Amino acid sequence: MSSAVTARACANIALVKYWGKRDAALNMPAAGSISLALGALVTETTVAFDPDLANDVIDLDGAPARQDVAMRITAFLDLVRAQSGVQIRARVTSKNEFPTASGLASSASGFAALALAATKAGGLDLEPRALSVLARRGSGSAARSVFGGFARMHTGVNNEDGYAEPITSPLADRVRMVIAVIGGGAPKQYTSRDAMEHTAKTSPLYRAWLDLVPRDLEACELALSSGDLEQLGTIAEANALAMHATAMAARPGLVYWRPATLAVLAQVRGLRECGVGAWATIDAGPHVKVLTSEEDAPTLAMQLRDIDGVTAVTISAPGGPATVVS
Ligand code: PMV
Repeated sequence: MSSAVTARACANIALVKYWGKRDAALNMPAAGSISLALGALVTETTVAFDPDLANDVIDLDGAPARQDVAMRITAFLDLVRAQSGVQIRARVTSKNEFPTASGLASSASGFAALALAATKAGGLDLEPRALSVLARRGSGSAARSVFGGFARMHTGVNNEDGYAEPITSPLADRVRMVIAVIGGGAPKQYTSRDAMEHTAKTSPLYRAWLDLVPRDLEACELALSSGDLEQLGTIAEANALAMHATAMAARPGLVYWRPATLAVLAQVRGLRECGVGAWATIDAGPHVKVLTSEEDAPTLAMQLRDIDGVTAVTISAPGGPATVVS
């Protein structure tokens, strides 16, 4: 048996979203994206290759993985086996240290931690860029979770160009994300993979979305380099609403929001009018993540806790890169 390797990675929340693939087989995005890694949302994964195993044995949060999830992880391990020359099966144990049971962006932290632990256990020592390319094959957003803080994902032409890289910004120490969990973190209705494909195929707004993303990426990078939180937040909120509008316009429409999602959105907008620096973003689920500053985060969290349908509120500082812990 190879010695077990344990790695940790943080989830990330996109400020300019990835929604649509150019190549489904290689998991290449149709456009770039920019995200912030969150220190409060961590996945820890241990991998050991073992000649005594007939199949990969995958344990997630203390229970055997569902068959569809296990198949996705085995397909990912096959990529690692092909790169490393290790032919034997692996034992994978993964745990999400999230403030709630499920429904948050765990595929990003999950595949980033798995990519790092599995390559190290297989005797590979990949550069961050190559690790990002590999993590992308598991989940598009995982390419960004290899890095800490702000990260930008490139569209790429070939497999090797589909990687993320870190972006430095004076905002890196100042920003916080307040996560409002809605509906107790119930599992989502459709996978982002299926939802993106459905949107690209049927939404009359998909073309407009693809035209918009490069402009939002440019404005977002400008806000990051100049340290302008208001500008960054304004783009992030507008971009999330545009992504949801595009998905809602698919036929049949994809609606992730619950009444509490709208209530949080309204509260964030109301607080902004009272001078609180807060901007909402929403992923493929009902939860709202609010970009804010270290100073405004406690006030904001207190206000969001009182909203009907909000089941947990967590303040997160930016997270670091994926690391090997043992
Ligand atoms: O990486 P995936 O396939 O789980 O897709 C992520 C999609 C969003 O979270 C909605 C947007 C993003 O850029 O993270």
